[in-house]
Amino acid sequence: MRVVSTSALPIDLAAQVTAAVPGTIVEVPAHGHVGLAGLDLASADALVCLLLDRIDAALLARAPGLRVVANCAVGIDNIDLAAATAAGVCVTNTPDVLTEATAELAFALLIAVARRLGEGERLVRSGAWTGWALDQLIGQGLLGRTLGVVGFGRIGQAMARRGHGFGMRVIYADPVDTGPSSAPAGPAERVSIDELFATADAVSLHCPLTPETRQLVNAERLAQMKPTAILVNTARGGCVDEAALADALVQRKLFGAGLDVYAREPAVDPRLLDAPGVVLAPHIGSATTEARTAMAQLCADAVIAALRGHRPGNLVNNVAPPWIRRS
Ligand code: DGY
Repeated sequence: MRVVSTSALPIDLAAQVTAAVPGTIVEVPAHGHVGLAGLDLASADALVCLLLDRIDAALLARAPGLRVVANCAVGIDNIDLAAATAAGVCVTNTPDVLTEATAELAFALLIAVARRLGEGERLVRSGAWTGWALDQLIGQGLLGRTLGVVGFGRIGQAMARRGHGFGMRVIYADPVDTGPSSAPAGPAERVSIDELFATADAVSLHCPLTPETRQLVNAERLAQMKPTAILVNTARGGCVDEAALADALVQRKLFGAGLDVYAREPAVDPRLLDAPGVVLAPHIGSATTEARTAMAQLCADAVIAALRGHRPGNLVNNVAPPWIRRS
């Protein structure tokens, strides 16, 4: 059997797979990510891929023996699930292990925007800072303000816990079913999505990118928000109409935005680069040693299970047993 990874991983995939399923050939780049275009998938049984890799019918046609695609991400919008299911290919993702890391980054962006940390850092680095001033870089405190969480799944609830810890009132709305999760620590009130956008002082997106959530935050939703409000996006760039967001920021119809994800990564709308009140991160929500190692481990576990003919953990599509499909 043959396992191919499109990326180097923070675990020894080859050692784990060959120990579990002796004789398996495991191909992992020595470093970095290689595009799917350059890979020979004709005889691959399992593929470990990243959110950068588009898995669609054309790709699956190049890999007739494939039985599992282990996506090293919780988001699966890079995968045509219907095509994978039709081809009898199991798709797995990496939930739970990145929940706290992603919520931490979302809250970090919220604080950074509220307290104007991006501007402050640039001021100090520029050498133009002339010293303490009573009216310098005045931001917002979070205590007593309302945090609106869009998508109350695992990460949304972890964000809510952080909001409660900072003395915020938490409201939430679910644009789509975001799956099972544990109860939030503290009261959170479910409201309509319209009420959430109209009343929250900070709106944080934690929904998957689906046809229903694509450009969920459009000009109309942005117009519903308070001019003092903050938008945080650590979900997917496609959930936001970036041109409309840039307009709202430039016209000071929002206090600011903290973004970790973009519609056309790694490209960032130039108007967002220049807009006031914006803090930008390079899609690092899950970028902790703990989370990334655990994500890779879930991929290894899924591949090993599938190669052994078992149901892989974190299976997200409906592929009937037996899970092994011989070409
Ligand atoms: C995910 O898992 O979907 C993140 O965007 C990357 O970790």
